[in-house]
Amino acid sequence: MAYIVDLRSDTVTKPTEAMKHAMVNSALGDDVYEEDPTVNALETKVAALLGKQAALFVPSGTMSNLIALMVHCQKRGQEAFVGHMSHIYKYEVATAAHVAGVHLSVLQNKPDGTFDLEYLKSHIQGTDIHEPISALVTVENTHNVCGGKVLPLKFLDDLGAICKKHNLPLHMDGARLFNAAVQSKEPAARIVRDCDSVSVCFSKGLSAPVGSCLVGSCHFIEQARRIRKMLGGGMRQVGVLAAAAIVALDEVVPLLSLDHKRAQRLAMVVNGLFLKSFSVDVEGVHTNILFISISENSPFNAEKVVQRLEQVSLSETQGDCKTPDDEGIIVKCLALDERRLRLVLHREINDEALWLAIMKITYVFREMDAMGKC
Ligand SMILES: Cc1ncc(COP(=O)(O)O)c(C=O)c1O
Repeated sequence: MAYIVDLRSDTVTKPTEAMKHAMVNSALGDDVYEEDPTVNALETKVAALLGKQAALFVPSGTMSNLIALMVHCQKRGQEAFVGHMSHIYKYEVATAAHVAGVHLSVLQNKPDGTFDLEYLKSHIQGTDIHEPISALVTVENTHNVCGGKVLPLKFLDDLGAICKKHNLPLHMDGARLFNAAVQSKEPAARIVRDCDSVSVCFSKGLSAPVGSCLVGSCHFIEQARRIRKMLGGGMRQVGVLAAAAIVALDEVVPLLSLDHKRAQRLAMVVNGLFLKSFSVDVEGVHTNILFISISENSPFNAEKVVQRLEQVSLSETQGDCKTPDDEGIIVKCLALDERRLRLVLHREINDEALWLAIMKITYVFREMDAMGKC
């Protein structure tokens, strides 16, 4: 069988041995009664890490963001500002409209994941009878679809000041907040200082099997707990999952910098091939996500490259793209759009797996680049 290097997402990571051990051995109780000691320990730990009063363990990042929208925008038709490339806007199945009755107003994301603060200021509304009432601003950090970008602290501080001035709560989708903290060497609590609520995920690069935490004030979490129950997210002996999340924070967060270094290395290798068809903005690789651009005049699109990386040709197994058992290498990644590939580094991609991915990518990119020259 070919050796598979799966770079589609950090969500593909499986629990570590220490997580499995903790899952089997942790104390459990009924979390709807707030009696699961392991969930309580996780919530206390995450709230403290983020410098907030309380936290709530929820099944997913999508539910966490939805609950935040529902707590902050309690009247139907209130407005939440979101980036046009944000996960909340693009990939959460329109929960804001479908479930929360929230009107999403879109801010144009810049390539670094930020948006124009002057534009935001001039679009806060609600005094005129015709307008929806602005009730929330959201940011994403790191920014997934902008390529794992860490939002600049200055932007967050300026945004925080605007939100305070206009009495608007600020929510951060921090699915990969710990990647941002590790890369910027800022404590997570400093990054989210001005946020009224934050969602963090344990099931992305942190490798836990399931779960996110929504974090905020005691009053916010009290309301969030009721909404979680309403959405069917009240779980019982869920310490079995919280146990893995606790280990993730202790064991995997310190390893995230390795994913970032490997993403850098891969980006530099691709650029170092000096091919016409493929390039990476190496400086734009902040964390574990990298985008490979395909030039406009290449005769293939991103989907074709994804398909080719998943095939093993006869010449590969006989030539210089062999695994130790001669069965070839498959690299899995995603076509983000027509001209961009997304590759995500994570705990299961060690130096050996990265080396195999580099061999395969080099082979396929050279082959496809030669096609482009015909
Ligand atoms: C930035 C961001 N927010 C939220 C989510 C949603 O998380 P989940 O898949 O746990 O619902 C994701 C998922 O990849 C994400 O990348």
